[in-house]
Amino acid sequence: MRNYPTVEDHTGRTIGAEEIEAATRVLRSGHLTRVGGTEAAALEREFATLIGAEHAVASSSGSAAVHLAVAAVDPEPGDEIIVPPLTDFGTVLGVLAANAVPVFADVDPLTGCLTAKSVAACLTDRTRAVIVVHLFGCPADIDGIRQVCDPRDVPVIEDCAQAYLTRPAGGGYAGTRSLIGCFSLQQSKHITAGEGGLTVTDDERLARRMRLLADKGWPRDTGERNHLLLGLNYRMPELSAAVARAQLAKLAGSVERRREVAAALTDQLRDLPGLLLPPDQGHSYFLYPIVLDTAVTGFEHREYVGRLAGSGAPVGAGYLSRPLYRTTVLTERRTYGTSGFPLISPPARQNHDYAAVSCPVAEDLIERSLVIALINERFDDEDTAALAQVLAEAYKR
Ligand SMILES: Cc1ncc(COP(=O)(O)O)c(C=O)c1O
Repeated sequence: MRNYPTVEDHTGRTIGAEEIEAATRVLRSGHLTRVGGTEAAALEREFATLIGAEHAVASSSGSAAVHLAVAAVDPEPGDEIIVPPLTDFGTVLGVLAANAVPVFADVDPLTGCLTAKSVAACLTDRTRAVIVVHLFGCPADIDGIRQVCDPRDVPVIEDCAQAYLTRPAGGGYAGTRSLIGCFSLQQSKHITAGEGGLTVTDDERLARRMRLLADKGWPRDTGERNHLLLGLNYRMPELSAAVARAQLAKLAGSVERRREVAAALTDQLRDLPGLLLPPDQGHSYFLYPIVLDTAVTGFEHREYVGRLAGSGAPVGAGYLSRPLYRTTVLTERRTYGTSGFPLISPPARQNHDYAAVSCPVAEDLIERSLVIALINERFDDEDTAALAQVLAEAYKR
């Protein structure tokens, strides 16, 4: 059995002398909070510059980043926010935390991302925003979705937790093609500080609002000890920010290496009928997804992954065990006491019964056809060749 590099520890992470120096610098200074500190502020400037946005706001997690983005557009309780069902729960957590209602739109059968058509089908007069996830690093059709949303003044938010340096069609990096982009620095992401989040925007008013929302509504910029709105404490600690800055310097190299690994896998697997491989254009390969055309392969994802048992290949079936609308918090409306707020009418347009929701494409991916290879930037050529070989052998068996 082969030991592949894993993002769970140093084997699959690019953490070295630079991060140790950064953490030591902060510890030596004795100043660990971003309030009055320099590291989080520097991270914000550096990230904004790197990605091509006017402003960046650091926070404590990717989930916090999405919550800041949703709260920044200020939905009324019960307003609807369109989301995909095939993503980390962190995409919808902020919707619920802002007292809005997640409305699930189906996804593209190859990429797992929202489509313009599926978003259009879910728009109502209560839609307040759409959160587009660039799933696994694959660029979603941001132009198409904006063509549907812009005429109705529905803002688009990009969840780029898995999509650093992803390049959607039409130019620019993911996160800069909409009102607000959200990123995560959690352990498994392209770059990590263990936990952490970043939001980016070109809108100065929204940036200030997100700063307030991340800091108890406290207007540090005026020096006044007041609380201007309902904001939590989502501040990023200086230690995390310093480590994230060191990681930022390595981001381009990590994405480049992931692209090389993915290209080699695609090269080796492209001739196997019924394996639908990720579209390479602009992808940043947080993971390497394969969709089975089960009518051609004659087997489903669990059987395929089962055939890899004992090889050590880091490959999983489905990504999720259920679409997000089948999670207990939603099916049983476990929000505030027994109220069901805000998922019931009023304040919502209708009682939202998630047990009745169905997104057939997402369900097919999760239940039958989506296979995930957990690659990372530390895969060397041997790891990559070994993975390609066991994937091809398991297919032929
Ligand atoms: C697409 C997506 N959105 C949001 C999140 C939430 O990020 P975090 O785990 O940092 O809260 C994640 C992280 O897993 C994610 O993959």
